Amino acid sequence: MSNELYAVVGHPINHSKSPKIHSQFAQQTREPIEYIAIQAPLDGFTATVRQFFEGGGKGLNVTVPFKEQAWELADCRVARAEKVGAANTLYQNPEGQLIADNTDGHGLVRDLLANHDVQLKGARILVLGAGGAVRGVLGPLLEQHPASLTIANRTVAKAEALARLFADEAGTATLSACGFEEPDQPFDLIINGTSASLQGDLPPLCANVITADTVLYDMMYASHTTPFNQWALDNGAVRVFDGLGMLIEQAAESFRVWRGVRPETAPVIDAMRND
Ligand code: ATR
Repeated sequence: MSNELYAVVGHPINHSKSPKIHSQFAQQTREPIEYIAIQAPLDGFTATVRQFFEGGGKGLNVTVPFKEQAWELADCRVARAEKVGAANTLYQNPEGQLIADNTDGHGLVRDLLANHDVQLKGARILVLGAGGAVRGVLGPLLEQHPASLTIANRTVAKAEALARLFADEAGTATLSACGFEEPDQPFDLIINGTSASLQGDLPPLCANVITADTVLYDMMYASHTTPFNQWALDNGAVRVFDGLGMLIEQAAESFRVWRGVRPETAPVIDAMRND
């Protein structure tokens, strides 16, 4: 039997780790798939997706800058992708309709729970940022029944808009929005979902938000400690994690959606960490 084709689409795409991750999943599960990277022209995402599926392709991951376009292009969106307004996973149903999913939030929550043993139920969570990355993780975080979830952002109005959007999913959690300087009490978990470090910046947080028991999670990852995690370590944090596990867990969830088989992520996280 010939391999079935999957791909990640983005622009640029040459640094994507997805082909390596999915080829390890394929080897491990013995699923007959081939996974490639496709760079779509900035004005040619729709044509690239159509061509891929017309050519017999089975599933796509979508990355920057096309996640919102992927969500719009789809004929249907699964429930967890609906409010996110962005999709990282596309496939066709048996009727040939294009379905959009978003596995990013699942990836984060699974990395926290399964790989880092972080308690989310009853936790006081501070999320930094109010862009696409944060919007993708709020639903899955709220599903874990934290005591509170505070969204802090440079542009406070964007944090407030997100808090309103997710108010009906908060359950018993206190969901609120503020600027970076406002929180001054300790949190159990602080998640950095800003892109500040790309400009060499750090969100100007009060160091009181950190104690030795606070878990810090930077959704970015790097071969070295991220600037945000370094700041946290310098201010008394002990447990800091970067987003490599989230990347691999979101990939595993896409693989499960497409193939019905969930790969083991721990060996792949180890391999990619040493890559
Ligand atoms: P992504 O898809 O990565 O979330 P985005 O939607 O552009 O990208 O969101 C980027 C986030 O990082 C936003 O919360 C942004 O803050 P604003 O809403 O105020 O723009 C935040 N961000 C970007 N650069 C930042 C900086 N230098 N300092 C603090 N926050 C920053």
